[in-house]
Amino acid sequence: MKNTAVAFREAKGQKKLVMLTAYDYSTARVMDAAGVDALLVGDSLGMVMLGHEDTLSVTLDDMARHCAAVARGAQKALVVCDMPFMSYHTGVEDCVRNAGRLVGEGRAQAVKLEGGADFAAEVRALVRASVPVMGHLGLTPQSVNALGGYRVQGKSAAAAKKLLDDARALQDAGAFALVLECVPAALAARITAVLEIPVIGIGAGPGCDGQVLVWQDMAGMNSGHLPRFVKRFGEVDCALRDAVQNYAREVRAGAFPADEHCYPLPQDVEKILKKLK
Ligand code: KIV
Repeated sequence: MKNTAVAFREAKGQKKLVMLTAYDYSTARVMDAAGVDALLVGDSLGMVMLGHEDTLSVTLDDMARHCAAVARGAQKALVVCDMPFMSYHTGVEDCVRNAGRLVGEGRAQAVKLEGGADFAAEVRALVRASVPVMGHLGLTPQSVNALGGYRVQGKSAAAAKKLLDDARALQDAGAFALVLECVPAALAARITAVLEIPVIGIGAGPGCDGQVLVWQDMAGMNSGHLPRFVKRFGEVDCALRDAVQNYAREVRAGAFPADEHCYPLPQDVEKILKKLK
């Protein structure tokens, strides 16, 4: 059965929720078959798929195209799509129209947006338009310029209180879940205990209702610097490099393609072919 935002919300307290990013059809199929609860078409695609230095250049077209591919590969997992930078900041109408494209063209079942009480009106409008919303607080990468870098958030009493207030504001506005990124584990656990909606952590410790990671980071496809919160669960880069090196070796040695990879010509045609000059 296809997972839904409603079922995702109701799973709070029943089981730990597993979310991973996905950006294309093939990997979405693998993750879906592996049984993840939700696939997030994150705007991190700007970095891990398109090679940008941050998420700010990602467009609505990028998100809609990648989301549609993921949605085609996700038979069971809930598909959540990030609203990219400036697609929900210029007013409630723009926000609803742009989310509408992610749902209509991208086949997203829910959207995620970064920000707290300041965006409660946008969350309300989306919920009114029947678009489930996942919030995103803590380190919000679209605000990298305002935050002064990618830093752990909520470390002072005032910042911790603001995060708690923002989380409540998103819940009150109708968000069905919340991503908490890069906040101290004890604060994340407190927010998780106070909220009625599931809190999905990334760099927020084990006290959250579930976890999300960028798949390239957790599967070992990213050889660059990894943040402290990432654990490598595989060595996909090594596996891919080995496959490419084996392929290159066999092509260069004339060992690939072998007979079993070739289409035979019917014998009568072969006879005629031999007579041709
Ligand atoms: O864009 C993304 O991948 C995200 C996750 C890191 C939560 O927002």
